[in-house]
Amino acid sequence: MSNMRLFKPHELPGTLICVEGIDGSGKSTQLAILRDWLKSKNLDVIFTEWNSSDLISQTTKKAKKKNLLSPRTFSLLHAVDFADRLEQIIIPAMKAGFIVLADRYVYTAFARDVARGVEKDWVRNMYGFAIKPDLALYYSISAEISLERICSNRAPSFYEAGMDLKLSNNPYKSYVIFQNRVNEEYMNMVDEFGLVKIDANNTIHSKQVLLRQHVTELLSKKGINI
Ligand SMILES: Nc1ncnc2c1ncn2[C@@H]1O[C@H](COP(=O)(O)OP(=O)(O)O)[C@@H](O)[C@H]1O
Ligand SMILES: [Mg+2]
Repeated sequence: MSNMRLFKPHELPGTLICVEGIDGSGKSTQLAILRDWLKSKNLDVIFTEWNSSDLISQTTKKAKKKNLLSPRTFSLLHAVDFADRLEQIIIPAMKAGFIVLADRYVYTAFARDVARGVEKDWVRNMYGFAIKPDLALYYSISAEISLERICSNRAPSFYEAGMDLKLSNNPYKSYVIFQNRVNEEYMNMVDEFGLVKIDANNTIHSKQVLLRQHVTELLSKKGINI
């Protein structure tokens, strides 16, 4: 597996930073503030989200609605979506020297798909074409707190709750069981991929301070002093 691109530092001029963690861990909040700050320093920044490529997202949406997908097929569709976004957005921006902020990256697939029962090696091999991020953060939060945060506005969706796995008929219970599994996979990836684990229970402000420290240090190694 070590001959794959995902396991070697990239040699592109840009900087790839990604955030990971279950829903409600505060990823989007942190990246949005970071983006504004980097832009205020006149740096070229682009933002990209999981499962957002036009090519595939319509198809996945339809198939998800009908609950037609096996875990492997689900995994495959996300990989196609990701491949499109990598080639169309991430790599061109990296070649142009941009800072790319990714709200979820391949580790999302590794965590969720394996939590759904897909083989670890199979999914890692499938994403082996991805470039290795310069910095990958894992915002760690319990499934219960995550549920509280997301359910202040809505109920968990069918797939967020892992209802396809028939863990429980109760979507809230199912959510906690499934997202705990996802968290367990993320925990394993701290050593495996060097994810930087951050306690997501901390305040938005203190998490932003920490994130900026990591980013400042990373950029200074590349000769960008902010
Ligand atoms: N440190 C925090 N403490 C309490 N609530 C938070 C914190 N960070 C984010 N939130 C809130 O939790 C919700 C989910 O945050 P969000 O950034 O959208 O998470 P994610 O992108 O990981 O799903 C939002 O309503 C946000 O305002
Ligand atoms: Mg988000």
